[in-house]
Amino acid sequence: MTAPIAPFDAEYLLDPHVVHRKLRESAPVHRVVLPGGAEAWLVTRAADVRNALTDSRFSIDKSSSRDGYKGFRLPPVLDANLLNIDAPDHTRLRRLVSHAFTRQRVGSLQDKIQAETDVLLDRIADRAQPELIADFAAPLPLTVINDLLGIVSEDREQFRNWTNTMLAPDPNEPQQAKRAVVDMERFIVDLVATKRATPADDFLSDLIAVRDAGDELTEDELVSLAFLIFWGGYQNGVEFIGKAVLALLDNPDQLAELRITAPEVSGAALEELLRYSHPSQFAVRRFPTEDITISGVRIPAGDTVLLGIASANRDPSFVPDPDRLDLTRVDNPHLAFGNGIHYCLGAPLARLEARIAIGSLVHRFPRIELAIPRDQIRWRSSFREHGLAALPLILGT
Ligand code: HEM
Repeated sequence: MTAPIAPFDAEYLLDPHVVHRKLRESAPVHRVVLPGGAEAWLVTRAADVRNALTDSRFSIDKSSSRDGYKGFRLPPVLDANLLNIDAPDHTRLRRLVSHAFTRQRVGSLQDKIQAETDVLLDRIADRAQPELIADFAAPLPLTVINDLLGIVSEDREQFRNWTNTMLAPDPNEPQQAKRAVVDMERFIVDLVATKRATPADDFLSDLIAVRDAGDELTEDELVSLAFLIFWGGYQNGVEFIGKAVLALLDNPDQLAELRITAPEVSGAALEELLRYSHPSQFAVRRFPTEDITISGVRIPAGDTVLLGIASANRDPSFVPDPDRLDLTRVDNPHLAFGNGIHYCLGAPLARLEARIAIGSLVHRFPRIELAIPRDQIRWRSSFREHGLAALPLILGT
């Protein structure tokens, strides 16, 4: 076997697409060293990524790892979540959750999302140099998830602090992020108990009430699902809104195109922004349950595999001229929300939130621009989730 490569360096954090292109062009599968020192296989090409996401020989369950998964681990109670469970257990859990995550529940949030967006835009309108992530892209999804889960206003500040700690842990305090996860888990356990005792008009109360053919969600399943929905919904939302706005600022012709219909954002425009700017560089790690060959490369059972969603979305065999943002692109089967049985459960909500956020922002501030030179933009240090640390703006009203 050839020696593994270490592609997730400083250059990668600045622009992963340049690195993905080189990797995709040189081989369909690479053996890579991850920043923590563990090794994995990285699948780079669209057809392979797409197929692997629907291949039942890939397990998502960390216990399928041959030598004990060495990556980030949640406390065991939070492992009963959709992104750590294979079929048929996943099928059961997803069916139960789908009873509560209805189109009606998502639709009921529309007015609240618009109202919160307007409040945040009013607030940034008064600032000389707003910072998009802290002042808009983060608080909006946080409020949406709080509304979805039915978290009362007094608890939201605390929730926000834990989240910030988890997303940007202090390097001098390595235990801080772990403590935040444990505190949040305890909070969610209490929240489930409260909703059980006093159901309200929210998704968590609906989840608790779901009964299907005599089946219901266990306590651990409820807690881990609420955590996953919070985590997936919040982090991806922040990063997607931030990167989508930057992509528009980088492409003034496309921004002008979007302004024609704003605050409406067409389906094609939203899907193109998702393809081009979505944050997740890879699907959640997978482990083959038997030896598998991808494009001629043999991957032994139990090894960790990263399926390169972001690389696939920029594969020219998948979409023509993939590095061009084209809001009128019609044939756009991107993988921003995954594919197969783990396809993002929150996709309808994510689309609604992004459409309102981006459409309202560009409509309200027609002359928005970057407040700093492009090459001074700071990125977060995660190689998995490519997101902005900050995006200072001049609104130019
Ligand atoms: C732009 C925003 C979002 C993006 C880019 C995104 C992306 C993804 C992706 C790629 C997956 C599949 C992971 C895999 O197969 O390895 C996924 C799964 C999931 N997402 Fe999202 N997501 C977003 C927003 C949300 C929101 C708002 C929620 C909830 C309110 C959510 C909840 C979930 C859940 C529960 C799963 C697991 C589904 C399953 O395993 O059956 N996501 N998401």
